[in-house]
Amino acid sequence: MSDSLCELKEQYASLLREYLAGGGEAVLLQAQALGHAAVAKGVGALQIAEIHHQALLTALKRMPVSPEITQMIKLFTDFFMENLSIFEMIERGYLEANARLTHLGKILDYNQRFVNDIVAAVPAGLLVFNRRTAELIITNKTFCEKFRVEAGEVTGKSLPDILDLIGLPAVAKTAILTSKGFFGLECWSNSQRVGKLLLKISMINGRLEQEAFLLMIEDITERWKLEQEMARLERLNLIGEMAAGIGHEIRNPMTTVRGFLQLLANKKEYSQDKEFFTLMLEELDRVNDIISEFLSLARNRAVELKAQNLNDIVKAIYPLIQADAMRADNYCDLELEDVPDLLLNEKEIRQLILNLARNGLEAMSHLSVGKLTIRTYRDENEVVLAVQDQGKGIEPHILERLGTPFLTTKENGTGIGLSVCYSIANRHKARIAVDTSSSGTTVFVRFNLAKNLEGT
Ligand SMILES: Nc1ncnc2c1ncn2[C@@H]1O[C@H](COP(=O)(O)OP(=O)(O)O)[C@@H](O)[C@H]1O
Ligand SMILES: [Mg+2]
Repeated sequence: MSDSLCELKEQYASLLREYLAGGGEAVLLQAQALGHAAVAKGVGALQIAEIHHQALLTALKRMPVSPEITQMIKLFTDFFMENLSIFEMIERGYLEANARLTHLGKILDYNQRFVNDIVAAVPAGLLVFNRRTAELIITNKTFCEKFRVEAGEVTGKSLPDILDLIGLPAVAKTAILTSKGFFGLECWSNSQRVGKLLLKISMINGRLEQEAFLLMIEDITERWKLEQEMARLERLNLIGEMAAGIGHEIRNPMTTVRGFLQLLANKKEYSQDKEFFTLMLEELDRVNDIISEFLSLARNRAVELKAQNLNDIVKAIYPLIQADAMRADNYCDLELEDVPDLLLNEKEIRQLILNLARNGLEAMSHLSVGKLTIRTYRDENEVVLAVQDQGKGIEPHILERLGTPFLTTKENGTGIGLSVCYSIANRHKARIAVDTSSSGTTVFVRFNLAKNLEGT
C-alpha cells in the first residue's frame, strides 16, 4: 500500500473513531469529503472499501461489544470484501474483453478499407453480382469512370440491365447469362465510350452464403490497334526489304539502258528525235531518284556526320524551295536565328528540309497565295527546325500513323517522304513533332544538342 494510501487510511480511521465516540454529523461529512478526494485521486473502489473495512475493524476493537458480535461483524465485513474483489475481477475481465473487441473492430475496419482500396485500384472494370438475385452488389472506380456512372446508380441493377449499359452484342450477352463457370470473351461494344472489350467471368463460392458472380471488363481497344499496327508494319517490313533488294538490282540494267540511250541520242540518224531521247533520259533519272529515296529508308544505315550549321544547309537549299513555291504562286520565308553547330549529314538534312517543304507546299495547293515559313531557333538544350504551312491540316487518323511507309492521301503521292524524314531524324538523334489544325501545320525537328554531339 502506498504512503498516501496509508495516510488516508489513518485519517479515515481516526475520523471513524471520532464519529463512533459521538462526533456527530460534521465528522461524517468530513469522512465523506475525504472519500471523494481519494476517488478523484484515482483510488479504486476496492481500496476505498478496504479502508472502510480496516477502519471499522480498528474501531470495533475499541468498542464495548461482546466478542461474538465483534466476530459476527468481522465475518460479515470479510465476506463483503471477498464479494467485492470477485466483482472487481469480473469488471476487469469485462474491460479487457471490451478493449480486445475495440481492437478487433479496428482491424476489421482497416481490412475492409484495404479490400475496398484494392477493388478500386484494379485497372479493369469490376462487377460483382449476387448469384441468386442477379443484382449488382459491388462495382469499382474503373468501371464507373469508363461508363460515366455513379456506383450508387448501378448498385442493385440486374445483370441484363448492366450488360445493356456496357453495350454488349446479343451473342456475348447470351454467353454471359448462360455461363456456369470461368471463361473469357473478347467482343466489340456498341457503346461510344469503349471499343473492343475483354470480359472475364468467374463464380465466387463464398463461405458466407453469398454466392457471387464476378465480371471483369478490360478495354483492350488500344492494345488491339497496336497489335494490328504491328502486324501491318511486319508485313511492310518484309515488303520493304524485298523491294530494297529488287531496287538495287534494277539499277544496274537501268544504268546500261541509260548509257545506250545517251549514245544513240548523239547519233546523226536520230537527230530529229532528240527531244524523245531527252524525255526518256529524264524519266529514267526520275525512276532512279525514286529508288534512291526508297533505299534511303533502309534502317541503321551508317551516315557520315560533320560538324556544321543547320542555317547554312537551309540557306543552300532555299532557292530550290522558293522555285517550287513560285510554281504554285506560293512563297517561302526564312526566319533563321543563330544556332550552335550540330553533327549533320548535309545530303540527308537537305532531303529532310526538302521533303517537309514539299509537303507544306502541297498542303497549300488550294490557296491562291500561301506562305511557307522555315524557322530555326534554339530551345533550351535543343536546336529546332520548324517548317510551317497554312494548309488544311492533317486529319487525326493520318496524324496517328504519320511516318508509316506508303501512307499517302495524294493521288500521285508515294507516302515515302515522311518515313525518310523520320529515319533521317533518327540517325541525327532528333525527334519530330507535329502541330496541326485546320489553319495549318508545323513540323518541328528537334535536335537534342547533347545526344547529337555524341555522334553515332
Ligand atoms: N504539311 C502537311 N499538311 C497536310 N498533310 C500532310 C503534311 N505533311 C504530310 N501530310 C500528310 O502525310 C501524308 C504522307 O506524307 P509523305 O510521307 O510526305 O508522302 P506524300 O507526300 O507522298 O503523300 C501525306 O499524304 C499527307 O496526307
Ligand atoms: Mg511528301
